[in-house]
Amino acid sequence: MNLALFASGTGSNVKNIIDFFKKNETINIVLVVSNNSSAGALIHAKNNDIEQLTIDKDALNESTTICETLHEQEVELVVLAGFLLKIPEKFISNFKGKIINLHPSLLPKFGGKGMYGNNVHKAVLAAKEKKTGITIHFVNENYDEGAIIEQFETVLTNEDDLSSIVEKIKKLEKLYFPSTIERLIYKL
Ligand code: GRF
Repeated sequence: MNLALFASGTGSNVKNIIDFFKKNETINIVLVVSNNSSAGALIHAKNNDIEQLTIDKDALNESTTICETLHEQEVELVVLAGFLLKIPEKFISNFKGKIINLHPSLLPKFGGKGMYGNNVHKAVLAAKEKKTGITIHFVNENYDEGAIIEQFETVLTNEDDLSSIVEKIKKLEKLYFPSTIERLIYKL
C-alpha cells in the first residue's frame, strides 16, 4: 500500500511517518509533495530515497497532473502533514475518502482558514483552554471540517506558554499520528 505525504514546512511529522513505516513491508511512502522548495520535508524525503515533488498553487488548483502522478504511483492514501494550501474540490473528488489531515487542536475548536501552527496555539492560550490536542480527520472542501478519525488530548495548566504547548503537541503527533495512519490504511 502506497502513501504520499504533503507538507509545507519543517516536516517533523514527515520524518516521524517515514521512520515509523521503515520497518513495515506492506506500507510504503512513495512520494513527498511540497509547495515550498526549501521545505525540510523534502530533505527528509531525499535522505530516505523517497521521490520528491514541488508544486505551486496553480498546479494544485489545476490538479490533473498531480492526481495522475498519484494514480501512477498507486497511492491509496494522501496524508497532509503540515500542508498549508487548500486542497481543491477536483482533487478531493479524485481521491474520495483517501485524503487525511493533521490539525494541532481539538477540532472543531480552533480550526478554519488561517488556523495553523502557532496561530492555533496562541488562540488556545488566549482562550485559557484547560486542554488541547491533535485531530486527524478526512479532508473535505472546507478547512478542517471533514469527518474526524481520531483525537488525542493533552492537559494544559496556568504554567503553559507557547513553547510548552508546541512541545506537548509535537509529542502527541509523534506518538499517535503514524500509528493512526497505520490503523486507517488497513481499513481502507
Ligand atoms: C504540525 O503541528 C501539524 O499539526 C500542523 O502543522 C505542523 C507541522 O509541523 N498541521 P511539521 O512541519 O511536521 O514539523
